[in-house]
Amino acid sequence: MQVIHEIEEARHWVRTAQQQGQRVGVVPTMGALHAGHLSLVHAARQSCDAVAVTIFVNPTQFAPHEDLQRYPRTLKEDLQLLGDQAQMVFTPTPEQMYPPGFSTSVDPPSVARDLEGVARPHHFRGVATVVLKLLQILPAERAFFGQKDFQQLCVVQQMVRDLDVPVEIVPCPTLRDPDGLAMSSRNRYLSGQQRESALGLIRALRHTAERVASGQRCVAVLESEMQGVLAQHGIERIDYATVRDRTTLQPLVNVTGAAIALIAAHVGTTRLIDNWLLEVG
Ligand code: PAF
Repeated sequence: MQVIHEIEEARHWVRTAQQQGQRVGVVPTMGALHAGHLSLVHAARQSCDAVAVTIFVNPTQFAPHEDLQRYPRTLKEDLQLLGDQAQMVFTPTPEQMYPPGFSTSVDPPSVARDLEGVARPHHFRGVATVVLKLLQILPAERAFFGQKDFQQLCVVQQMVRDLDVPVEIVPCPTLRDPDGLAMSSRNRYLSGQQRESALGLIRALRHTAERVASGQRCVAVLESEMQGVLAQHGIERIDYATVRDRTTLQPLVNVTGAAIALIAAHVGTTRLIDNWLLEVG
């Protein structure tokens, strides 16, 4: 596996692979890799000939009060974990990505406005900008994103469509620990007791899926029950616990078609998000 820090060298690596007839897949990450990231790398290996992973803790998607400073940076362990799963890792510095004078950003699409967009108003501008930059630096045929960050996936898909970026965005299912907790680099902040509380998220989501499967369609009822399950787990600081249209992420009165339940909540000082696709039979 080649580790590349320079932008031009990374672009050259992708172009060389493509000139050799290889289809390139890119997996953008902020490092602190876990099995969830490895599942994205695995998906990339399944459908591409060469896989590049990016490891970059992007400062522009964190607000000043958020956890940029304490966000885990574990490059050595990340490279060990990747082993020979990826052919290349691109890990630039913030100064390379945002040199003095940098002043352009992507105005994210409307699907970015609600949910995370309310709780973290500048977040998706930072995400859209860095993802577009990474896709320019690594002009891969495919890019792999986890469904755990479902709104981020929607934002990236819409941006790529709107700006004619020649890449296929491949959504990948959320990986969970055996007890159901969605894998996240931030789970390492949780104490044993907080981890138990954090299971409130998956339990609230599963409860919602079961209620929909057994015929409950009223979103107000579903949302109130989600809040109830979270409260039972001692989770009181909830940014949202909601059921939305799966394409637009707009609010619904009743679940009639493809929908999604989404939660963002705080457990101790850690903010967790999770979601569950809802099917109406
Ligand atoms: O999902 C992430 O890890 C980040 O938001 C991404 C897509 C790598 C952009 O920094």
